[in-house]
Amino acid sequence: MSVTPLEAIPLDQLRLRSSTKWRKYPADVIPMFVAETDFPLAPAISRALTRAVELGDTGYTPPDPGVAHAYVDFAQRRFGWTVDPARIRTTCDVMMGVVEVLRYVTKPGDRVVITTPVYPPFFTCVEEAGAVVEDVPLVDTGAGWELDLLGIEAALAGGARAVLLCNPHNPTGTVHSRETLAALADLAAGFGAAVISDEIHAPLAHSGVAFTPFLDASPVAAQVGYAIASASKAFNLAGLKCALIITAAESTAQIVRSMPDEVEWRTSLFGAMAAVAAFSPESDAWLDSLLATLDGNRRLLAELLAEHVPGAEYRIPDAGFLAWVDLTALGWGQNPALKVLRDARVALHLGPLFGPQGKGHVRINFGCSPELLREAVERIGALVAP
Ligand SMILES: Cc1ncc(COP(=O)(O)O)c(C=O)c1O
Repeated sequence: MSVTPLEAIPLDQLRLRSSTKWRKYPADVIPMFVAETDFPLAPAISRALTRAVELGDTGYTPPDPGVAHAYVDFAQRRFGWTVDPARIRTTCDVMMGVVEVLRYVTKPGDRVVITTPVYPPFFTCVEEAGAVVEDVPLVDTGAGWELDLLGIEAALAGGARAVLLCNPHNPTGTVHSRETLAALADLAAGFGAAVISDEIHAPLAHSGVAFTPFLDASPVAAQVGYAIASASKAFNLAGLKCALIITAAESTAQIVRSMPDEVEWRTSLFGAMAAVAAFSPESDAWLDSLLATLDGNRRLLAELLAEHVPGAEYRIPDAGFLAWVDLTALGWGQNPALKVLRDARVALHLGPLFGPQGKGHVRINFGCSPELLREAVERIGALVAP
């Protein structure tokens, strides 16, 4: 059944928004850096928030705002994954959830594996938890990216205590296979290490790509893993602050239950209300429409780059609205986003922030209208020498 793509909000209205995407740069810049999207809210979310504003419902978040049950249903419908609501706690945002789990599974100075190129706050959140980053870069297979399981094994054998996984992976849009995740779980179990799986982009796996929740990859993964999820990327709710810490075994659930109540108190009430509405079946049609738009855009970007920016290397991502693009061949230096901002007035995310492999790269946010994507790539193309 074909799904009608979701239309982005017109640019003049987007410019009225007060979020980072629309306020960081002057109005002549097309913003494609931070991971916010340009679509109207899912109607169920608008209704829930409007009602709360009308009621002045702006107090503290109650002990069970309904997020756990809403996510349990969502995970069953969208991923075929059975989650126990008693093994979910909420917190303020995904990165805070990651830090809180890291505090429990590492001691100060312990090493934590990250797999670059990766979402830049992965470096800082490991430090915030008092641990030290050990980089085991993704392997470029020529057709895609994969975890370097041998490298991770060596890091764990050398004493690393945890792996911070990005599943699906930002910035490459890689959806790790069940086999890879199960193998990672076996390695972690063998060395008594933990795996923390950031699954914020999971609702955005494109059709035909099977997303595997880490905790569901194998019985061993259920024992060693912690998943951190949120509605905030798919439903553009980053400013509302609500994330879930999910476990699938009694031992890990105990650890999460033993966290101070403050961790849960930091969940925003508006964030919780919006998450309940986002994860409800009422929002499924909206999410499918969004995915139809993003599917069109991820392919359109390939066509536009081939036409206007020859030399740019881009692999169509399996999930999400972020594109990892190698501009090395253009000779625009180690940080080409700087030139693109200065000369094309398009703000892209800076590749080197994602780790050493980010030299010469940019990250493009295509969570926008196809027209805006076209204009941005045409502007960049105008910089390419004839
Ligand atoms: C992989 C990943 N994790 C976490 C975040 C941030 O999530 P939060 O704002 O809930 O901390 C992002 C934002 O883009 C992300 O891409």
